[in-house]
Amino acid sequence: MMILCGTTSKSLARDLSGRTGATLLEAEVRRFPDGECYVRFDRESVDKDVVIVGNTYTDGNLVEFILMHDAARGLGAEKIISVVPYFGYGRQDRRFLPGEALSAQVMLRHIALETDRLLTIDLHKPDILRWFTKPGAKDLTAAPAIGEHFAGKGIDLVLAPDKGAAQRAADVAHIIGCNSDHLMKTRISDIEVKITPSKLDAKGKNVLIVDDIISTGGTIVAASNELRRLGAHHVTAACTHGLFVGNALEKLKKACDGVVCANTLENEVSTISVASEVAKAL
Ligand code: R5P
Repeated sequence: MMILCGTTSKSLARDLSGRTGATLLEAEVRRFPDGECYVRFDRESVDKDVVIVGNTYTDGNLVEFILMHDAARGLGAEKIISVVPYFGYGRQDRRFLPGEALSAQVMLRHIALETDRLLTIDLHKPDILRWFTKPGAKDLTAAPAIGEHFAGKGIDLVLAPDKGAAQRAADVAHIIGCNSDHLMKTRISDIEVKITPSKLDAKGKNVLIVDDIISTGGTIVAASNELRRLGAHHVTAACTHGLFVGNALEKLKKACDGVVCANTLENEVSTISVASEVAKAL
């Protein structure tokens, strides 16, 4: 088995190769003058079984991801397992308004044309995998890796910023060996959220806020502000997918004492590797 990757989630692919002993093959990826993507694996052939690691975010990386599958098939790959650490378009899981594209379904149907098996990590709504039209799709979780990263670091409470993230917070807290709770969030716009004032006992506590995605940072900043109001001593934020749109990371660094995320997307704070979860599933 070989592990193939392009320009996204390279550190995860390298870690995966180290843990499994599988050879890592990094694609040559470049852009033509008009912006179109070029992908090549500089080999005569690849193993019959390959794992392709790549994100479906951004749109450019999505094309790279699809082209990697064709390049691998052209070199003899017969069974492809696709690992999509951050599944872009996973949040549009309904037609909220008439006439909208059902993006999650579109992406899963098209990926199923290219691959044999799919592994994702912390999908916003894991049940979208029903649209992958082949057996063998599984959503993994970064919660164990996040929990192990913070175990023994003095965390008193793990907090989800909303009810939807409460189970993830409980899973992380279980590994750390502390309690978990959640706040109540209302989304006002794409960039604005409101946290309902809470009666949570956070006074003097070291709190870890855990979410699946940090995008604009609005959710975590609002949650951290609420924790400060409640007298929390130390507030750290962790997530699986750090998108950090615009100046989100700067805002978060001001609002929290620490920010860290998994290496599903690569950035300056993506120091928690989910490779062991992926290696187990492979
Ligand atoms: C939404 O329900 C998600 O779990 C995240 O809370 C959300 O995507 C975070 O977005 P932002 O960082 O823009 O507040």
